[in-house]
Amino acid sequence: MKRERWASRVGLVLAFAGNAVGLGNFLRFPVQAAKNGGGAFMIPYFFAFILLGIPLMWIEWTIGRYGGKFGHGTTPGMFDKLWNKPISKYIGALGVMIPLLIGSYYLYVMSWTLGFAFYSLKGTLTSFTSHEQISAFLSAYQGVVKNQYFHSIWTSYIFYLIAFLFTMYIVSRGIVKGIETLAKIAMPTLFLFAFFLMIRVLTLGTPDPINHPDWNINTGLGYMWNPMIEYLKKGKTWIAAAGQIFFTLSLGIGVLQSYASYLKEKEDIVVAGLATASTNEFAEVILGGTIAIPAAVAFFGPVLVKTGGAFDLGFKTLPLVFGKLPYGWLFSTLWFLLLFLAGVTSGVALSQPLVAFLEDEFGLTKKKAALIVAIVLFTLGQPIIFLLKYGVLDDIDWWIGTVGLALFATLEVFIFNFAFGTERGWQELHRGASMRLPRIFYFIMRYITPFFLLAIFIYWIATDGINFLLMKGVPAANRPFLIATRIAIILVYVAIAVLIRIAWDKKKNVGK
Ligand code: ALA
Repeated sequence: MKRERWASRVGLVLAFAGNAVGLGNFLRFPVQAAKNGGGAFMIPYFFAFILLGIPLMWIEWTIGRYGGKFGHGTTPGMFDKLWNKPISKYIGALGVMIPLLIGSYYLYVMSWTLGFAFYSLKGTLTSFTSHEQISAFLSAYQGVVKNQYFHSIWTSYIFYLIAFLFTMYIVSRGIVKGIETLAKIAMPTLFLFAFFLMIRVLTLGTPDPINHPDWNINTGLGYMWNPMIEYLKKGKTWIAAAGQIFFTLSLGIGVLQSYASYLKEKEDIVVAGLATASTNEFAEVILGGTIAIPAAVAFFGPVLVKTGGAFDLGFKTLPLVFGKLPYGWLFSTLWFLLLFLAGVTSGVALSQPLVAFLEDEFGLTKKKAALIVAIVLFTLGQPIIFLLKYGVLDDIDWWIGTVGLALFATLEVFIFNFAFGTERGWQELHRGASMRLPRIFYFIMRYITPFFLLAIFIYWIATDGINFLLMKGVPAANRPFLIATRIAIILVYVAIAVLIRIAWDKKKNVGK
């Protein structure tokens, strides 16, 4: 069966950028930077970008394009080609499991942005004047409590269904007609909204000069960017920076490899990779760094920003900020639509690997594969939605979205360097490239990236891992749910491993 190919260079860069630019750029990055030394955070961030982000990204593009040549759109088949050992495809199974599990909750979180865009347009969100009100609204929306705003989860569920069906529709249309077309529309729109919001934030001035003359856009920007040099001495700052690079570039998930399998054999991945990473960094550092935190500080001062997480800032504080502005409903709507567009382009990306797996390894048609993926994602999503208050989502996010990525990336980099061979990989990366990279990157890829990754992975396990494993601080009522979640994660892995076994056995028999 002939595999699809991205239709244009611009389209593929936008699709890869759509995968990378997500909630992480607009919510997670500003909070990480502000909490870890402001401008000083950017130094480890830059190191992590050069030593970890860019090399790993090129490695994933290379693995993906190489695997695509053999008709494999996911890492089980790709790793099998890199390292001819039975275990390699079972390591590759992680590259199907991780996006599937992240996708099962990501689509739900993404649907909240759609719901919140609707309630912004209606004027409901910007009518709130206190954090308590908006927190009560959000909790009831999520079905965690019942109050005057919502008596059940069903409103939120309807938005989930809309977001879910839309995502699946895009995926079922395939790489060019679905994902590439969506990126070509969504990404420019997203940038337009972000510019508009950035300009509005930069012109906020001093909102309350009598009571709070110090709370203004300059202090807001200063809070985000003033370098607190003492943070450079803390290990945590460096780990946080590396974690953010991982998250924002969508590394160690399995999606980049799958997207790259649809590249032409001679596509210039050195340049396309750089273009994608630059687009993501522009969205993150320039746009993401200018909107949420400076606006929140200008209106509420730095205390609120320090205490709340990324989620509080985006979903609660910003609507309150916009509520104080003329036409606030409009800005709030644009903000949540911006997050939705960032989310949906990442949502389709997370759904794609399993579709590719079923198509490539089992010969299913795209439509059939997409239907099966929709059923699986929907089924996995239900306990996450209905058991939100027991911490199921957070647990999967930690095991898969944090530890899983680091583990998978570490194994992948070792296979690339020490089984496939860095020299072969280097040649493969440069096939069709219009420029040759300085040889120093060869050295970084082979010696620095793997050990940097290993260090992060071990650090995570040693600091948070044991607490998570033993469920320290988790209320007794939540524990059975978390145990069930962990068993479910293992079962999903086993199911994918069994499918791999069946697919490979079938191929062996055909080959006889
Ligand atoms: N890379 C995606 C983000 O930044 C996951 O949200």
